[in-house]
Amino acid sequence: MSSIFLPNEQATLDFANVFSGCLKKFRLPENGLTVYLYGDLGAGKTTFVRGFLRGLGFLGNVKSPTYSLLEEYHLPCELTVQHFDLYRFSSPEEWTDAGFDDLDANAIRLIEWADKGGDFVPPADLDITFTVQNTGRMVTITALNDLGKDFLGQWQN
Ligand SMILES: Nc1ncnc2c1ncn2[C@@H]1O[C@H](COP(=O)(O)OP(=O)(O)OP(=O)(O)O)[C@@H](O)[C@H]1O
Ligand SMILES: [Mg+2]
Repeated sequence: MSSIFLPNEQATLDFANVFSGCLKKFRLPENGLTVYLYGDLGAGKTTFVRGFLRGLGFLGNVKSPTYSLLEEYHLPCELTVQHFDLYRFSSPEEWTDAGFDDLDANAIRLIEWADKGGDFVPPADLDITFTVQNTGRMVTITALNDLGKDFLGQWQN
């Protein structure tokens, strides 16, 4: 587990940018990588995804999947990023109804409000939690398995 304080929006973008930059040196397994993004409404989860995509060379608009539930990015570095926001799910089964079991598994899944999808959601390799602290955010990264630990090790170096 590792925590850092992000004093403003730019700090969140920079943090996410470095974080995803580490992925370029990382061998993504067949089943991809799953990251749950935790935090209250407005905590900075989508801001993180914006910086994350920038770090992988995506220059376009990153919109919140609040209504679409999923935004998918096929990046020039050959990685696919799937950005989910399950806030509007009224039951976990909506994961299956939305066709999310049929998506490309060899992708990086960044999931906001993963708890709304219950056991239908692939288990996380990493958790990132954003907490409002004064005018900034405290972010805590937790590795949940060996893959998560490998990745966290890359980031810490
Ligand atoms: N480190 C930071 N310090 C202060 N403000 C920040 C920081 N990071 C992001 N913000 C601001 O907080 C807000 C976060 O919005 P964002 O859409 O990223 O939140 P979210 O966690 O995705 O919320 P939701 O659950 O509603 O999707 C934005 O206005 C952004 O500018
Ligand atoms: Mg969001």
